[in-house]
Amino acid sequence: MDESKGDVHLFGPRPAGQEEGSASVGSQVTPGSNGGPPLAEMVAEILRLKEEQNAVILAHNYQIPAIQDLADFVGDSLGLSRQAEETDAETIVFCGVHFMAETAKILCPEKRVLIPDPAAGCSLADSIDVDSVRAWKAAHPGALLVVYVNCSAEVKAEADYCCTSANALKVIQAIPEDRQVLFAPDMFLGEYLREKTGRALTVWMGECHVHAAIGPRDVQRMWSEKPDADLLVHPECGCVSSVMWHAAIGDLPENRTQILSTQGMINVVAESESKEFLVATETGILHQLRKLNHGKRFFPVKEDAECSYMKMITVEKLLRTMREGVYEVVLAPEIIERARLSIERMMAIV
Ligand code: 13P
Ligand code: SF4
Repeated sequence: MDESKGDVHLFGPRPAGQEEGSASVGSQVTPGSNGGPPLAEMVAEILRLKEEQNAVILAHNYQIPAIQDLADFVGDSLGLSRQAEETDAETIVFCGVHFMAETAKILCPEKRVLIPDPAAGCSLADSIDVDSVRAWKAAHPGALLVVYVNCSAEVKAEADYCCTSANALKVIQAIPEDRQVLFAPDMFLGEYLREKTGRALTVWMGECHVHAAIGPRDVQRMWSEKPDADLLVHPECGCVSSVMWHAAIGDLPENRTQILSTQGMINVVAESESKEFLVATETGILHQLRKLNHGKRFFPVKEDAECSYMKMITVEKLLRTMREGVYEVVLAPEIIERARLSIERMMAIV
């Protein structure tokens, strides 16, 4: 058994009909195109109901453009958690995947948290369950467990610290050097953290099927086509170690190669003088990048890097949520209490 790579191999299921590296299916539901009311009418009704119910709509950067455009806040996992924590609204409508809505519920147990489609899951979150994480901890007595936010509330409840792609490095650096650290569930982010911190993290072998499929060859191909572009890479990508290596030896320009959360990408582009960017992550973020940066050009490193779980949230489903109050996220108070501790420890560090 290779301890350094973690001791259990679990890979999350892909949505039906989606093979590794292939384009997702059925994700582009065109609002208003299937005999329902026109998009503008649905959006107006959603916004009216939102006011009436004192609700806030949070959307992740990978949501379809129509959802991003009507949301009150669009952001990454960390930013949306902060928005959930700070809002005065009575209802949080989470347009994202299930673990994100759960995180909002953990942070705001007194609020009603709704998700338009509870089947919007995450292959990475599904790569670890509570029984396996307990067994893993039992095999490493005395170690601290750090979990990436992409996991269930039950798994978070087992953790000492939570982290997101925006703060994982700081969380690991805040842990005393003499403590053994278990990191789950993303192996590419885990490897990135190992290389950046020089620490012997024990890493769970989970992956996101969308990001794992963005490999070194995709970067190489796009880089040879656009050698003047900046390169922005999400740390869940299969190419992350290779990108770090090539930047370190000078094959990629170190000052124009960055590994970032989705919101980190948006922030860096806003500050940058560069005009072209290669983007290695789920393609939903291109809408936000293009909308905020006229005059700059963005190219996906992998055109078909699309998360069909994220695209399960449609305007039609959101309208139903606003009308019928479905689907409410419900968690046991004991899970909320324990999971909250790991998130609060993270928030205290960053
Ligand atoms: P961010 O927190 O960087 O937005 O990432 C969330 C996610 O699910 C990446 O696949
Ligand atoms: Fe999960 Fe990957 Fe989709 Fe992000 S892109 S929600 S990690 S399956």
